[in-house]
Amino acid sequence: MLIVKICIGSSCYLKGAQDLVEMFQNAVRENNIEGKVELSGSFCTGRCNRNGVTVQVNDTTYTGITKENFNDFFKDYILRYAIQ
Ligand code: FES
Repeated sequence: MLIVKICIGSSCYLKGAQDLVEMFQNAVRENNIEGKVELSGSFCTGRCNRNGVTVQVNDTTYTGITKENFNDFFKDYILRYAIQ
């Protein structure tokens, strides 16, 4: 099970966290990996980035996730591990 925490702190919120939450939900549904990925929100993890949103996947923190790089991020860091 991958635990994915999307930061909804104020800095990430301003950089589109709300849209990203929807994109994560849709991508999980479309790829039929609902049982393998648990989505949740998190408060500021102190890793605010000038661009994009901070996302934790299990114990690893990624910064700078945007609508533009979402598809690559999802494919490389979520889908790849979820379908193993
Ligand atoms: S608000 Fe998201 S890491 Fe700080």
